[in-house]
Amino acid sequence: MSIPHSVFSAVLVFVALATTTLASTEACLPTNKREDGMNINFYEYTIGDKTTYLEPEYMGYKYSDTKKLGSVRGQTDLSIYYSPPCESTPTCVTYAVLKRDEDGYDPCGPLYETKKRDTEYCDPNTAYWSSDLFGFYTTPTNVTVEMTGYFLPPQTGSYIFKFATVDDSAILSVGGATAFDCCAQQQPPITSTNFTINGIKPWGGSLPPNVEGTVYMYAGFYYPMKVVYSNAVSWGTLPISVTLPDGTAISDDFEGYVYSFDDDLTQSDCTIPDPSNYTITGLITTTTEPWTGTLTSTSTEMTTVTGTNGQPTDETVIVIRTPTSEGLITTTTEPWTGTFTSTSTEMTTVTGTNGQPTDETVIVAKAPTTATSSSLSSSSSEQITSSITS
Ligand SMILES: *[C@@H]1O[C@H](CO)[C@@H](O)[C@H](O)[C@H]1NC(C)=O
Ligand SMILES: *[C@@H]1O[C@H](CO)[C@@H](O)[C@H](O)[C@H]1NC(C)=O
Ligand SMILES: *[C@@H]1O[C@H](CO)[C@@H](O)[C@H](O)[C@H]1NC(C)=O
Repeated sequence: MSIPHSVFSAVLVFVALATTTLASTEACLPTNKREDGMNINFYEYTIGDKTTYLEPEYMGYKYSDTKKLGSVRGQTDLSIYYSPPCESTPTCVTYAVLKRDEDGYDPCGPLYETKKRDTEYCDPNTAYWSSDLFGFYTTPTNVTVEMTGYFLPPQTGSYIFKFATVDDSAILSVGGATAFDCCAQQQPPITSTNFTINGIKPWGGSLPPNVEGTVYMYAGFYYPMKVVYSNAVSWGTLPISVTLPDGTAISDDFEGYVYSFDDDLTQSDCTIPDPSNYTITGLITTTTEPWTGTLTSTSTEMTTVTGTNGQPTDETVIVIRTPTSEGLITTTTEPWTGTFTSTSTEMTTVTGTNGQPTDETVIVAKAPTTATSSSLSSSSSEQITSSITS
């Protein structure tokens, strides 16, 4: 059996397009205070409305035209698993004699009996109130939930976001100008319907059970991420997961991966349209010089050199002047979210290898996390200890 040549061509074109698109997902580098978790906004949704959430425009941005009920912050446990306090479908058994509930309502019809259960039978058009969705008191049976935050990839590569199931309708978007604009997380939604995952109903009939989407991301950049979820009646389910480039699967709990930043529309360098060729800072050089003073001092200088990729690269030179008397010096480099490198020096006394009290100077260098993350993360995990002897 021969496969037409055009099939191969089509596949090749698709791969080429996909690669181009994936490589240029817009990222952000907000410089203001970072908070853990995502922000969750709750919007009205009419009980039993099984059409509004079928529209991509509604799931993308028009949900915000309805009344906003409130919000919660700092959520890292993102999945939704809501069960109403009663059964939404009755179990009906044939019964020769007509039976009805005490209130006269018979969901099984006149020739059946509604089988007795531990929990009562739900009227499918009833709204139930609870705090089951992120601790916010609302009606999980009928509500629209918007989650926004920044995803911080720890590795460079392809990330596969996935909804294991969707009840009733949901989308997920990743990237600046797709989920939301950089440094503008709290602004009204942008009018994009370019979803990374389209879990809009009726997903069950036409899509595989796992609804997923892939995004290529660069380590250390903040990628806007948005999830919109709607439920019309009874049960509400949205398990959210992501598989990292190294195969690690993160399910439900996104702690350490999702953050929020207050808007800063004045930060002009917040948007990184193409993280692949963006270089802000890279090198940290630490020089230790003995001197005749009694205190350890550090100074930081910035210079620009040509980085290994040919791009201008900031070099941070940390010069440490240490007393020439005997003592230990420990230098630790820690990544942090600021934009400049800072150093601090602490003196402690430890027991030296000869059992005598020995001064230890601990120098902590805090370097921006966006610096060439490979060189930073490797140096952050190791400590350089040197002994200075006069
Ligand atoms: C759900 O429907 C009930 C009944 O109509 C209504 O009172 C409630 O406000 C709705 N909830 C939301 C979040 O829209
Ligand atoms: C959707 O994505 C495509 C390709 O990335 C882009 O050309 C288009 O402008 C996007 N549309 C919207 C509405 O963001
Ligand atoms: C990065 O490279 C792409 C294509 O190679 C180019 O279009 C874009 O302008 C570059 N971005 C920067 C910031 O240099």
